[in-house]
Amino acid sequence: MTTPPAPRASRHARVNLIFIGPPGSGKGTQAVRIAEKYGIPHISTGDILRAAVKAGTPLGQQVAATLADGGLVGDDLMTDLVRSRLAQPDARNGFLLDGFPRTVAQARTLEALLGGVPVIVTMLSVATDAIVDRLSNRRICEACGITQSVFFGSEGENEACPYCGGRLVRRQDDAPQTIRRRLENYAAVAEPLIAYYRERPTFATIDGLQRPDDVSAAIAAHVDRQRLLLTD
Ligand code: AP5
Repeated sequence: MTTPPAPRASRHARVNLIFIGPPGSGKGTQAVRIAEKYGIPHISTGDILRAAVKAGTPLGQQVAATLADGGLVGDDLMTDLVRSRLAQPDARNGFLLDGFPRTVAQARTLEALLGGVPVIVTMLSVATDAIVDRLSNRRICEACGITQSVFFGSEGENEACPYCGGRLVRRQDDAPQTIRRRLENYAAVAEPLIAYYRERPTFATIDGLQRPDDVSAAIAAHVDRQRLLLTD
């Protein structure tokens, strides 16, 4: 007689994930993979804001200078934005928040919004030197939106995307002086936010310097473990 497999959380059982970590730690790269794996929407507050700036909407006009400067958008605006995004039907069975919350005030509002429903928090940890290299070498395809890394020292601007032939461009906030400001702004708010989540059993720090596949595997192992514990 064969032994039945151990019960596993279903791929589509509700799963609420939060990715935190410094700029360039790989949140976006991993969020695409992990959201796909669990069948949940990837909600990147940075992507939402950049799309608004590109489209020239009132929101975009309001935040354009802050984004270009590497500053943080205000808590009230961000929490309103996330509240309305989480109310959409695709977030009913869970979500992956990438880049939110960024402050304790945002974390508290999110907690109130979820009414006690637990979140699984992953922090990606990467040393500052590696972050500066990564963001200096990051390019985004204007056509398909895919993120790529160009070789160290290459200008890489206006090269063709190897996937769709679109133009590879540097994100406006990846200019060297803006990267520095973003890192300073992150440092100013990160510690209290990490302290807010660190003692919770659903929190884990993952080494973001590993190969991308190894980072994904470590995140998935954390999420699967927590889902089993939460459904027990
Ligand atoms: P946002 O878009 O969230 O930017 P960020 O947090 O600065 O993070 P990044 O998108 O730069 O990096 P990432 O961690 O996603 O790394 P990635 O995967 O691309 O926010 C932008 C702005 O919006 C903020 O500055 C702020 O103004 C505003 N904003 C957004 N949310 C807000 C909020 N809640 N409150 C207030 N303001 C808010 O990877 C980086 C590079 O590394 C890529 O080239 C990638 O290919 C490479 N890479 C990834 N993983 C690896 C790996 N394992 N090994 C080697 N290279 C890797």
